[in-house]
Amino acid sequence: MCGIVGHIGSMNSIQVVLQGLSKLEYRGYDSAGVSYIDHSGNLFNQKKEGKLVNLEKLLGKDLPQTNICIGHTRWATHGEVNDVNSHPHSFGSISLVHNGIIENANEIKKELREKGYEFKSQTDTESFLGLMIINMKEGLSFSDAVRASFKRVKGHSAFVVLCKETKEIIAVKRGAPLVCGMHETDSNVMVSSDPYALVGLVDKLYFPEDEVFCTLSGAQTNLITFAEFDGTPSKRYLSTKQNLSADASEKGDFEHFMLKEIHEQPGLIRALTQYYIGGDGEASLEDVSSIKPERLILSACGTAAYAAYCARDIIENENRIPCVVELGSEFRYRDPILSKGDVALFISQSGETADTLASQGLCKQKGIKTVSIVNVMGSTLYRDCDHNLLIRAGVEIGVASTKAFTQQVLTSKLLSFTLKGHLKNAQERKALIDRFDLLASRIESLLQNQDVIKKIAEEIYNYKGYFYTGRGTYYPIALEGALKLKEIAYVHAEGYAAGELKHGPIALIDENMVNIAIIGPELHEKVLSNAEEIKSRKGIIVALADVNDEEAKGMCRYHVPLKFDGLGDLSPIYVNVANQLLAYYMAKFKGTDIDKPRNLAKSVTVE
Ligand code: F6R
Repeated sequence: MCGIVGHIGSMNSIQVVLQGLSKLEYRGYDSAGVSYIDHSGNLFNQKKEGKLVNLEKLLGKDLPQTNICIGHTRWATHGEVNDVNSHPHSFGSISLVHNGIIENANEIKKELREKGYEFKSQTDTESFLGLMIINMKEGLSFSDAVRASFKRVKGHSAFVVLCKETKEIIAVKRGAPLVCGMHETDSNVMVSSDPYALVGLVDKLYFPEDEVFCTLSGAQTNLITFAEFDGTPSKRYLSTKQNLSADASEKGDFEHFMLKEIHEQPGLIRALTQYYIGGDGEASLEDVSSIKPERLILSACGTAAYAAYCARDIIENENRIPCVVELGSEFRYRDPILSKGDVALFISQSGETADTLASQGLCKQKGIKTVSIVNVMGSTLYRDCDHNLLIRAGVEIGVASTKAFTQQVLTSKLLSFTLKGHLKNAQERKALIDRFDLLASRIESLLQNQDVIKKIAEEIYNYKGYFYTGRGTYYPIALEGALKLKEIAYVHAEGYAAGELKHGPIALIDENMVNIAIIGPELHEKVLSNAEEIKSRKGIIVALADVNDEEAKGMCRYHVPLKFDGLGDLSPIYVNVANQLLAYYMAKFKGTDIDKPRNLAKSVTVE
């Protein structure tokens, strides 16, 4: 959840690290800090509570000159948000940054105190620093001290450690994201928790596996080396070309990344179609066509879990394969009954969500075949699953997930289509390409007419609470709509199956409550009656209903005109875009920090 960047090379390392951190600020932003060695060989450590701009102010306009630096943006887990608890943590010749949780920190701290180490911060991270200091004091070299300290810590973490004496950076991880990068022609080497921080700076990426020690050094040869615990060279890493575009990090004419990402959806839908069934990426679909699940277990967290519910509906309806959805954070701690014919499908934007990874690990351990639908190639989930389908959403910077949801559901649809055996059927293929294109066009018209939604947002953003309701395949959309509103507008919102309201929550309905009612073609009459029940209790209704739905228009105070015909099982994705816009504009009227909502981090790498 924290962001890590390290650099050694010919450029000014502080500048490179700050540039990388600014790209990662979306991951966590309670504080930021850097440690660097200046040209006289002195180690400096500077850190500041708050956003990166506070650190930049502290460093001043004339940045110190250095060719070796590590940096960090923090999402606090242990210890309050303040300067002292910020990373890097530094003592003597060592500085380090950390992402994750050291589960046995208390036990290590007790032992280190007995050996005379005095803790300055309340963090779990400092226990690793203490281990380093004591290990080096007891005679271990820098690299041996990293190995010995890493052996002692439990839990999922990535550490990046800088040594003043050797002028090296050593990075290692267990169950947390880490990537190294190198520019093949100039001598710049980097390390980060996210490949996105390395865009435009390196052309080759290396994704180490767990417990591989990556040493970055300023030497002319072997700029990055990989070693096992015993110090022998390691080949346990995946190397790829860096192919993310630098444009992705620009907002362009949009006020927020979230709005930009909402607008990217039609183009991404068409590109996904082209990639998987219009030509190039077919190979991946053929790869999954060999899967013959007797039952599909879908597991994910947050928005990705709602995408999993949509995937369940699509796959179950189209293939009649029983599907169950399991929330990653629950599934990992259950003792689920799994059988041989089961296949587990994991959906994730980052591919680094701790609970999703743990669920995947559980299935793998039980011998169940695992498949991912994931955005980040080379992520842990991508590497650990037997089969992968990339959602090809590009970098998603807005903390609230938008385009990833759309691409996750569409990729699930492609999986469903493949399981059905339609991949080689030209007619079915053409029909699906046309339907994806129709979806893209409908989203385009929604975007062109977004002022309708903006006006409604202006009218309703100050009410007491919001119920999103839907039935059937629109129920997960109600859940996702409410989540989007909560996370960026900081208001209470709840997603509900419309038929369930009368079993309790209807008690909350009065003239201060708003109901965003998805009134699609499915169970149309039933949903209208549910809306009627709310209207009778003076609730304010915003109908997400067809442009020709006179009954919905007559009954509800506000109407977002939609066009459902022809979309079939893709229509929930379309409705969801209307909800994304509604949440976006309500948050804008509330004046919140839309791209970086409070308390949230983009990638939840701790459980
Ligand atoms: C909400 C949101 C989160 C993520 C969830 C899973 O807008 O972004 O709920 O969907 O943390 O993240 P990934 O998809 O990276 O596994």
